[in-house]
Amino acid sequence: MRGFPAPGPGLLPSRSSPSPRPVTGLLVLPGPPPLAYAESLNRFFIHPFTRAASPMTTPVESTPAAEPSKGYPAQARRTLSGIKPSGTPHLGNYLGFLRPALEMQATHQSFYFIADYHALTSVRDAPALRESTLDLAAVFHALGMDFDRHTFFRQSDVPEVTELAWILSCITPLGLLHQAHAYKDKTAKGEEINHGLFAYPVLMAADILIYDSTHVPVGKDQKQHLEITRDIAQRFNFLYGDTLVIPEPTIAEDVATVPGLDGRKMSKSYGNVIPLFGDPKQTRKTVMKIVTDSKGVEEPKDPDACNVFALYKHFARPEEQAHWAGRYKAGGMGYGEIKQALFDAMERELAAPRERYQAARQNTPLLEGILEKGAEKARKVAREVLGRVKQKVGLG
Ligand code: TYM
Repeated sequence: MRGFPAPGPGLLPSRSSPSPRPVTGLLVLPGPPPLAYAESLNRFFIHPFTRAASPMTTPVESTPAAEPSKGYPAQARRTLSGIKPSGTPHLGNYLGFLRPALEMQATHQSFYFIADYHALTSVRDAPALRESTLDLAAVFHALGMDFDRHTFFRQSDVPEVTELAWILSCITPLGLLHQAHAYKDKTAKGEEINHGLFAYPVLMAADILIYDSTHVPVGKDQKQHLEITRDIAQRFNFLYGDTLVIPEPTIAEDVATVPGLDGRKMSKSYGNVIPLFGDPKQTRKTVMKIVTDSKGVEEPKDPDACNVFALYKHFARPEEQAHWAGRYKAGGMGYGEIKQALFDAMERELAAPRERYQAARQNTPLLEGILEKGAEKARKVAREVLGRVKQKVGLG
């Protein structure tokens, strides 16, 4: 695969050269990194997020999600993230994305959306797609998204994103997409692959770049997509001059990969999920199915090697965690007890939002109204950024 072209003389000059060859998560760039990106961006236009445009030529690192970002003025921090309406949201979505993302509303201007175009790569049932979209709108409502101060929308209500995706497609090396995990995994399994799945990372790059996003809170499984996004944005900027903001991933280390019932990553495709707002009786039964080792009640156990404790620690207070960790190690504790404690701790946090969710889910006009209002706000930004891009590439 070919790398990026070296930046031309005077373009994106290096501030602290000599620099090592910049390495992204996926590509080795042949030229010096665009270290003066922020300054050069200023030369072209006044942009509210110039600080966000600092070069990201190192591999994506995990950072604490809710920590205020260093070096960004508050008004320049814009988080963006999305979730696919392709089934019931689960605890992996909640702990890895929803909870940290919604906490970031306090420090960042937030854009969150329902990725229904992305869902089309696998969902073939139109009514189910509509229902899952409303489910997610109700989830964000229930978890306290502030729809007035922030922007929440349905991806397909901003069709400009597909226009940007096409423009980005035209500068995306095929080799970059051949490396994408989702595509590679399906190919390895001999499964049928559609073009949408192959081009998935380009649409995701468009999602992020069209809102001048500075931070993208996601679980670890999306890390490669963010690396591809940054590679595409850097390539665009090399080719056309500084235009796109290079975003930072925000992967909360402790919840980067939330385990499912069997200890593998919690995922719809593994069938190992605990639904976020399921019926409590059913949820309790599901919690009781979490796989543990076969140690007897009296034997000492290791909390750090236990799938139940791995979930429990995200819902428990520090003193509760310490208490149960002690009981594991002392012996005399059965796994049924800690499973019950997990269920209780989940209920403490999720019972009230679940009620709000159920009420909102009955109120389709409320949910449609939320989505409509969000789409209007999102489109305004998307049109502005797309206009900037089209002008650069010679369209219109
Ligand atoms: P999706 O719908 O698969 O998942 C939504 C979010 O939940 C996180 N997540 C997890 N985190 C930790 N542990 C787990 N077991 C777990 N399972 C899911 C995911 O990492 C994700 O953050 N491609 C995206 C949607 C998308 C998007 C975007 C995200 C489309 N465009 C632009 C960010 C920016 C997806 O399919 O997420």
